[in-house]
Amino acid sequence: MSEFENRRQKLFDLIPEGSVVIVHSGVSKIASEDEFFPFRVNNNFFYLTGIKQENSVLFMVKNLGVKKTYLFIDEYSALKEKWTGKRLSVEEASMISDIKNVLTNNVYESQLDLAIQDGSTHFGTIEKLYIDLSEELKIGPNTSTKEFENRIHELYPHIEVLNIRPLICNLRMVKSNYEIECIKNAINLTHHGINQMLMLMKEGMKEYQLANIFEYYGKDKDKTPLAFDTIVAAGKNATCLHYPSQMDRLKATDLVLFDLGYSVDGYSGDISRTYPISGKFNDLQRQIYSVVLLCNKAVIEYAKPGLTLMDLQNYCVDFFKNELLRTSLLKEEDDIKQVYYHSVSHHLGLDTHDISDRNLPLQPGNVITVEPGLYFAKYGIGIRIEDDILINENGCEVLSRSIKKEIDEIEDLLSSIKFKTRG
Ligand code: GLY
Ligand code: MN
Ligand code: MN
Repeated sequence: MSEFENRRQKLFDLIPEGSVVIVHSGVSKIASEDEFFPFRVNNNFFYLTGIKQENSVLFMVKNLGVKKTYLFIDEYSALKEKWTGKRLSVEEASMISDIKNVLTNNVYESQLDLAIQDGSTHFGTIEKLYIDLSEELKIGPNTSTKEFENRIHELYPHIEVLNIRPLICNLRMVKSNYEIECIKNAINLTHHGINQMLMLMKEGMKEYQLANIFEYYGKDKDKTPLAFDTIVAAGKNATCLHYPSQMDRLKATDLVLFDLGYSVDGYSGDISRTYPISGKFNDLQRQIYSVVLLCNKAVIEYAKPGLTLMDLQNYCVDFFKNELLRTSLLKEEDDIKQVYYHSVSHHLGLDTHDISDRNLPLQPGNVITVEPGLYFAKYGIGIRIEDDILINENGCEVLSRSIKKEIDEIEDLLSSIKFKTRG
């Protein structure tokens, strides 16, 4: 069974008889006037089909012991092709998704009506319609699935409309071997991109120029997209978590924090490292870095099935409190909020902050980040060390372990790069 068919079968197992599932790929959102944002597929749709084309619809029916799957895509249009290029043919869409019944959108409404109208005998009596009610999902330039839901209520009052999102969420949280390989590939390429940056990093360049090196490296490799906007922040700027400007110059006395990743085959890498621009940590930087590194390793050691992300966060906060009081970097326990102000972990997958139920205990197959950080604005120091880990039966495997984070390793790496490239 193909990866996508396997996922759909698992979804079928979660819904009762007498159900229809509809998941839209979505359409581009309007940016301004007649300009559109680049299209980003609804990842719940992509997860179930492998298709990234806008205005496509997955349609699944389960009733009377029968499970049927259809995919609807735009019909061929010579004019559209002249404006925006080739779109998937029915055969191509069928091959990618492993769905035999691929039809075009002109028959979608009638097919829907045939399936769920009152007294329909086509698939037997349908009582429940599951749709993806993600608020941000647009199925027409200005139409949300909420409006689609209202239309269903008007036209088919006997149908109960339910949100499919929590069911797909449960599936997406546990990664298959294929998904884990994709995430590993994203992390490996991200590692290469980081190495490119380090080879060209030098005092005096602007933060955005360092980010550009990472971004160009991905674009040059088969137009690999970014998983999220690259963060490069030097010195005090690193105390702003999503520091946007990136216009400052790198100073030899500062650390630089980079938080970045590519998306490979749809799956994100999400890595943060903090390195000294000169190649050597000074004493205070070394002291604070050591606390973050110890915390990063302690949380990784702690992570295992049965714990929640909140357990990891509480563990991280307690670790920081103890270590910062012990080393006199903090005077009062409560001051922790001044120097650590985000979560230590999120799920990672098709979305960088992947769909998840944060209250569910971790289980084997979950891929999460571990990203403690300390931010001392008064010293001009912001440090975050972010790894991506796979939860397994015994604890976890660090998927990003080859990206250097030990102080000695970082200093050796930077000095060997300097020796090779800058003399
Ligand atoms: N890059 C955003 C995050 O680490 O969560
Ligand atoms: Mn990150
Ligand atoms: Mn992250």
